[in-house]
Amino acid sequence: MADDWNMPKGDLMKGKRGVVMGVANQNSIAWGIATQLAAQGAEIAFTYQGESLERRVRPLVESIGMDTMIPADVTNDESMDAAFAAIKQKWGKIDFLVHSIAFAGKDELQGSMVANTTREGFRRAMDISVYSFIDCARRASEIMPDGGSIICMTYLGAERTVPSYNVMGVAKAALEASTRYAARDLGPQGIRVNAISAGAMRTLSLAGIRGGKSLMGTGRNWSLLKEDTSMEGVAGCALYLLSPLGRSIAGEVIHVDAGFHVVGVPDASEEE
Ligand SMILES: NC(=O)c1ccc[n+]([C@@H]2O[C@H](COP(=O)([O-])OP(=O)(O)OC[C@H]3O[C@@H](n4cnc5c(N)ncnc54)[C@H](O)[C@@H]3O)[C@@H](O)[C@H]2O)c1
Repeated sequence: MADDWNMPKGDLMKGKRGVVMGVANQNSIAWGIATQLAAQGAEIAFTYQGESLERRVRPLVESIGMDTMIPADVTNDESMDAAFAAIKQKWGKIDFLVHSIAFAGKDELQGSMVANTTREGFRRAMDISVYSFIDCARRASEIMPDGGSIICMTYLGAERTVPSYNVMGVAKAALEASTRYAARDLGPQGIRVNAISAGAMRTLSLAGIRGGKSLMGTGRNWSLLKEDTSMEGVAGCALYLLSPLGRSIAGEVIHVDAGFHVVGVPDASEEE
């Protein structure tokens, strides 16, 4: 997939080292971002959730000439301690971090939010999708003595209601607020923290949402550009935020969704 697009190559990230968290397969948003960063000269350490993913992710990582892969389960403090100790040991310091991680149970991602959100499901969604970002921002900032850039991934369901998105919409609202607070705390250290709000894209995470496919269809039909959100667009925005091009941008949520978020009422011909 990442090879399909005409990826701009250059030196924007030359000499920069950082961590990409959240590659599960070649469709992952984290993978699209990583390939774009690598094409601009970045050195990347990849974290992955568990052994079964390592087998799938290793060939991808090797295909772009990288070899640093570190297990990191964001729900486990020991795993996170070990992961960031390994990164510190390898490089001493980093310049960027990409957080592209979220999870909610299938039972929560359907039907009524009020009826289907359990205490445990809420806790898990918030822990994996929100607290992990705060935790990563803290850990990354400790090894960014020269400043840096941190991004996370969010979705329109944080701002407006979206069918089946439910507790994940609540989590994304908290993630966007966490982005602003982290940007406030880390700004004085020269660390910029921002979020990308991507339109619906065909990934494993989308497959976990009941009716996820129709989120893509509506996103495309109602969007201003009349097209799906592209990996090129999301990866390009990530490159912008993580490179010197994004200087002076902090605490921002940038929509990369073909303009879908500004539509209040679709054209009559596009109503479903
Ligand atoms: N696909 C979309 O339509 C879309 C749109 C907007 C935002 N996003 C966001 O983009 C991000 C990446 O999702 P994606 O669509 O690329 O799907 P994906 O399934 O490829 O990526 C999700 C990643 O989260 C990781 N993860 C889950 N639990 C974890 C844990 N306990 N420890 C460590 N890692 C864990 C998974 O291993 C996986 O790599 C998510 O934050 C998602 O909410 C996705």
